Amino acid sequence: MRTDTAPGTDRTVRLTDYTPPGWLVERVRLEVDLAPRATRVRTRIRFRRNPDRPGARPDLRLDGRRLTFLAASIDGQPLGDAGPDAALSFDAEGLSVRGDALPGDSFEWDCLTEIDPQANTELEGLYLSRGMFCTQCEAEGFRKITYYPDRPDVMAPFTVRIEGPRATCPVLLSNGNPGASGDLPDGRHFAEWVDPHPKPAYLFALVAGDLVAHRDGFTTASGREVDLRVWVRPGDEDKCAYAMDALKRSMRWDEVAYGREYDLDIFQIVAVDDFNMGAMENKGLNIFNSKYVLASPETATDADYERIESIVAHEYFHNWTGNRITCRDWFQLCLKEGLTVFRDQCFTADTRSEPVKRIDDVKMLRARQFREDQGPLAHPVRPEEYIEINNFYTATVYEKGAEVIRMLRTLVGEDGYRRALDLYFERHDGQACTIEQFRACFEDATGRDLSQFALWWSQSGTPRLTMAEDWDGAAYTLTLRQETPPTPGQAAKAPLVIPVAAGLIGPDGAEMVPTQVLELSRPEQSFRFEGLPARPVASVLRGFSAPVVLDRPLDDATRAFLLAHDADPFNRWQAGRDYAISIALRLIEGGAIPNAWAEALGRLVADEALDPAFRALALELPGEDEMAGEVVARGGLADPDAIHSALRAMRAHLGDALGAELSRLRAAMAVDGPYSPDAASAGRRALANRCMVLMLAAGTAQAHRAAEAQFDAADNMTDRIAALAALVHADAPGAASRLDAFHAAWRHDPLVLDKWLTVQATAPVSDAATRVAALTGHPSFEWKNPNRFRALIGSFAMGNATGFHAADGSGYRLVADWLLRLDPVNPQTTARVAGCFETWRRYEPGRQALMQAELRRIAAVETLSRNTREIVERILGG
Ligand code: TRP
Ligand code: ZN
Repeated sequence: MRTDTAPGTDRTVRLTDYTPPGWLVERVRLEVDLAPRATRVRTRIRFRRNPDRPGARPDLRLDGRRLTFLAASIDGQPLGDAGPDAALSFDAEGLSVRGDALPGDSFEWDCLTEIDPQANTELEGLYLSRGMFCTQCEAEGFRKITYYPDRPDVMAPFTVRIEGPRATCPVLLSNGNPGASGDLPDGRHFAEWVDPHPKPAYLFALVAGDLVAHRDGFTTASGREVDLRVWVRPGDEDKCAYAMDALKRSMRWDEVAYGREYDLDIFQIVAVDDFNMGAMENKGLNIFNSKYVLASPETATDADYERIESIVAHEYFHNWTGNRITCRDWFQLCLKEGLTVFRDQCFTADTRSEPVKRIDDVKMLRARQFREDQGPLAHPVRPEEYIEINNFYTATVYEKGAEVIRMLRTLVGEDGYRRALDLYFERHDGQACTIEQFRACFEDATGRDLSQFALWWSQSGTPRLTMAEDWDGAAYTLTLRQETPPTPGQAAKAPLVIPVAAGLIGPDGAEMVPTQVLELSRPEQSFRFEGLPARPVASVLRGFSAPVVLDRPLDDATRAFLLAHDADPFNRWQAGRDYAISIALRLIEGGAIPNAWAEALGRLVADEALDPAFRALALELPGEDEMAGEVVARGGLADPDAIHSALRAMRAHLGDALGAELSRLRAAMAVDGPYSPDAASAGRRALANRCMVLMLAAGTAQAHRAAEAQFDAADNMTDRIAALAALVHADAPGAASRLDAFHAAWRHDPLVLDKWLTVQATAPVSDAATRVAALTGHPSFEWKNPNRFRALIGSFAMGNATGFHAADGSGYRLVADWLLRLDPVNPQTTARVAGCFETWRRYEPGRQALMQAELRRIAAVETLSRNTREIVERILGG
């Protein structure tokens, strides 16, 4: 009866199998009586028949996993589950009540269950994090709390009563507005929360523990006073100000940019130490990984501050794109995630620097999403089937999903975009929607037919654009060809609508034809520009206007020209990137580094008119993983050692060739006064620290001393950790003592110790696996905490090509061992980290065999979780 499904059972869920729910929930009341080993949940639900499901009265189907069933009644009549024809029956995934046994088309369900939060190591459902009760329900965690129709198209207003011991749980929180609260006998107390906005169960949240609030307030555009609270452990109060500030700025931004106001009397954020992902947008009660809330100059880097700001914004923006309008089913996940990522990207672009944000996002898109799209885990932005939905919170759904929205905006224009979104909010508020309904809003608001564009949601794979140019003395013709290579399960691909922003640059470097958006919709199209005074240089795919690979062989001189003159900052950066990639490829083939490269970069970084953050990006070389992709794109197989040597030689070359300039710039970028995480100061630190890394690559004693001095004198974590990483990664003599000093100073701050673990895990040294193995025995490595696990094992697997791809297989083995250890404890995090093996077919035969052997060793474990099995088998089989 209540066991998990036998291995081998087909559990594939398909988009085409969608059927509307038989029963809707009119309202629900939860009463949660907290105890670490035996929490009791009483659930009262008013069910109403779904008018969209005519015919015989459907069975009542409720999801439930690992619940101890105590009692249930319908309209006050107790239900039994005894006997073969009892009305109530249980299986591994929940319970059913036969339709013919239900009293009518509306009834009251009352059920009592018990759960064991302390035994919940998966961090899904109700669990304990350092003594604090908290929940994570997306996607299907609510069914681990109580029996319920746990699907996003069932939306209901919730009333929640929490009861617990006052001593250990002085604070009791749930969604919505606060209701009654008070004392109970035996040192217990209770609090009620009322959420009037209908929501799906995945947005339910409950937190109880010893927490303190950083408080503030916000007045909405229409005058609603909103209480704001950021809840953290006692002692962390002084690390909340930045998250609170980011929240208020996000609330204002959504009013201005989208006309969206907040809709409750209170908005709360809780920081939790044990969390599988970044954060969760539960209605009115966002729950965050503490890593994305807590910040002080001494403990958080500039990158941490920026990430906190964007995640606070992301979760807040979900209040409209996700919560007020949610997803009909989990196949529509990109409806809320792609759109909300796009919104948070725009918020950051408005708040900081638009081009720098775009470059950062594209780097991430290529590193994660292109890698996914070009490998065995490729799937459409809207997948058509899954085994474990938690495996589909992917870069494709999130980041490519955001690119699709960005292209839509490019195609219909800013005004059309705003009209379409206004229509979407007006038409669908309070509903659970599909991508088709979203698309219809764009078609209705703008009159544009988007049927071909819609392929972006259903067709997987990264399109490849090739270009040909023609110049006849007065007219320039640009011919673009598109082709999407086959992906697992999708052999044939149709042409997409691709917005290609392009401009033409004259021989003097001035803009000859300003940016226009060329719309490619056929396999091949030509675009002609007439009456030009001289042959132009084309700048194509400006701002990265579509998530495609642009295949454009160029000579070094043209790359240097674009790097010097392109009016589009993204393409200027791209020209430098392409230049570096082409040199790395030449080095791998045994070639040499042309002097012109460092000269071109030297001119760029010395240009005081350019944003320091932009110059820092221009000085950064492609990563090893990116280079492996480039080798494969040219029909080769990647040799990690050759890639590593090439990039190392290039860094050393820049360090030598630009030594004096780097040293001058580093000094010039010094920021005076107390630390501030603003974008301008952060950009100066980024450039200074980039200079330091290149200076160390040249290996001078002076560079070592400079990094040591920076570590010793730093008044902020950005400069301190940059110096530590530079020393450790250069395997410098001063590294070991500083690692010890750092640990001694921060031994009580787990988030800072994560940085200490990551710096060591990512050191590109030949014995990296041995060093990481030793760190797994360190008392600071609490492996069951996802942040610790990712900081050490995750960053070794994804951020240390030298160690992970060690030729003897030691890196692969270490990671596989730890995945097997974590899997029974936390399958979600295990499956995510297992994605490190997805590129196995890119490498030379020796590495391929070693990686494949580890994947097979994992797959051979019979008790492997559904999450990890799905990932490993797709990686092996794709
Ligand atoms: N919806 C969350 C977000 O985008 C992410 C999320 C999905 C999540 N599943 C989760 C967070 C599980 C934590 C745990 O922002
Ligand atoms: Zn999200």
